Amino acid sequence: MDVMDAIKNRKTTRAFLNKPVSKKDIIEVLNAARSAPSGSNLQPWEFWVVTGKEKDDIVEKLLKEQEKTGITYSPGKGRTLNERYTERSNSFVMKILPYIKKAGIDDPNWIIHGSLSFYGAPVIILLLFDEESNSNEINMGLALQNILLSAHNKGLSTCPLGLPLIFEDLIKNHLKIPKRLRLSNIVAIGYADTENPINKFKSERVPLDEITKFIGFVEDF
Ligand SMILES: Cc1cc2nc3c(=O)[nH]c(=O)nc-3n(C[C@H](O)[C@H](O)[C@H](O)COP(=O)(O)O)c2cc1C
Repeated sequence: MDVMDAIKNRKTTRAFLNKPVSKKDIIEVLNAARSAPSGSNLQPWEFWVVTGKEKDDIVEKLLKEQEKTGITYSPGKGRTLNERYTERSNSFVMKILPYIKKAGIDDPNWIIHGSLSFYGAPVIILLLFDEESNSNEINMGLALQNILLSAHNKGLSTCPLGLPLIFEDLIKNHLKIPKRLRLSNIVAIGYADTENPINKFKSERVPLDEITKFIGFVEDF
């Protein structure tokens, strides 16, 4: 698959089939992840892959904890977003809502509950950042994108998840993850339920000229 095709056509999946993913496929995806560049080649990551009952137990604990605490997610991590980002966040919600409705979902907190249950994906990949590396978490983003694109290349679908990080300690305690490893992201991975209307949603991007400055260019060539 052409790299630009993969970049353009990858998208977040929020409904997965109850179909297992082979360990061989996951290993290929993780080989792409560990091929990512990192500052001074420190490779400050570990990838923990969870499936089956262990994954289901985590989902149960997360949903219970959310119900108990009532903690919800806000895109500004608790801080009020400025106008520009409030608008982008609201626009995302407004545009995905019709698809949620079409899927027959009437839970107003579906994004929260869906994220905490990994949208039914059979496998999750925990991206763990080693704080002892004293490096930058940007490295984790590069590994994350390699996971998303290589999965797409193999016909697998993904949802990168930040929301479950609000219960990072719960997840770390459950899996006995060492303190030095911080949870950067969780990728839900599996086969997309292509019939589900929620997966027909395609997010938009702001136009290039809104986010770009060309400096020192004399001609448009
Ligand atoms: C770091 C990160 C965290 C994310 N966390 C969540 C999440 O918790 N729940 C969710 O439904 N989507 C989550 N997403 C998916 C984004 O909403 C999605 O990438 C964005 O809307 C753009 O859509 P696309 O991935 O289909 O291009 C996350 C994406 C990233 C990169």
